[in-house]
Amino acid sequence: MLRTALDLSGRVAVVTGAASGIGRGSCEVLAELGAAVVCADIDHPGAEATAALIGAAGGRAVAAEVDTASAASVDALVARVAADFGRLDVMANIAGIMHTSTVVDTTDEDLDRVLAVNFKGAFHGCRAAARVMVPQGSGSIVNMASSAIDTAAPGLLCYGAAKAAMIQLTKTLATEVGPHGVRVNAVAPGWTVTGMTGRHWTAEDGTEDPERKAATTAPMARLSPLRRVGEPLDVAYAVAYLASDAAAFTTGQILRPNGGATMPW
Ligand SMILES: NC(=O)c1ccc[n+]([C@@H]2O[C@H](COP(=O)([O-])OP(=O)(O)OC[C@H]3O[C@@H](n4cnc5c(N)ncnc54)[C@H](O)[C@@H]3O)[C@@H](O)[C@H]2O)c1
Repeated sequence: MLRTALDLSGRVAVVTGAASGIGRGSCEVLAELGAAVVCADIDHPGAEATAALIGAAGGRAVAAEVDTASAASVDALVARVAADFGRLDVMANIAGIMHTSTVVDTTDEDLDRVLAVNFKGAFHGCRAAARVMVPQGSGSIVNMASSAIDTAAPGLLCYGAAKAAMIQLTKTLATEVGPHGVRVNAVAPGWTVTGMTGRHWTAEDGTEDPERKAATTAPMARLSPLRRVGEPLDVAYAVAYLASDAAAFTTGQILRPNGGATMPW
């Protein structure tokens, strides 16, 4: 009986950033729990590959192309899902980009681009989803933040500012749509092995350098009492929990799958 709280059968989920890493893992877990998943990404072949993986495992998924930086693109995606499926139960705003430059070296264009994809992307997803979920009287929105909301590091102004703004978006929207049965939460993962972080040890042709991988991950692993970095599924399970009825009394919160790395210890 308790398992039914995690059962997403009959639910419809949209996941942005679905072509890779945490987004792909989240699509797989949501589908495994029974949801029909719309795998959306600016990388359409990658989104198709995620949908194919889910289909091969017996789940239900379709691919869609979206640019989260564009309100029109996100609005069109959500309108299409609402028309095709007749509902929207989960909106996971996971698409994101990394950017590093010190404050003095950051151009206006750098800041605009990172805010556009990482913050406005979530804003576009939240707004479009809320417009469907509020009249529907139910739904769960999950925004992908980062440990960068809790710590500062040289070069991370654009990325950290976008993720911090996403937290204010999450809490504000939670207060507005809660009375209508819609929940809004954020996940703030620690350092996780994905395409975003893999660029440190992966060549253009996709080959990995194990020594560089070990050298890059070891200092990040030492930040955690668990002495490891994250894998996409570590974060995907947090997304699935917040998406499900198991989190029915949880809104406006930040869940931190980071191996304990950002607590003072
Ligand atoms: N990997 C980490 O250590 C880590 C830690 C904390 C938070 N995050 C966050 O998790 C999310 C997923 O990152 P990841 O590590 O899986 O990275 P990733 O690079 O593997 O995946 C990001 C995905 O977002 C897509 N994307 C980029 N710009 C887009 C756009 N404009 N519209 C639609 N899709 C777009 C990419 O095509 C890619 O498929 C990001 O928001 C990232 O900031 C990652």
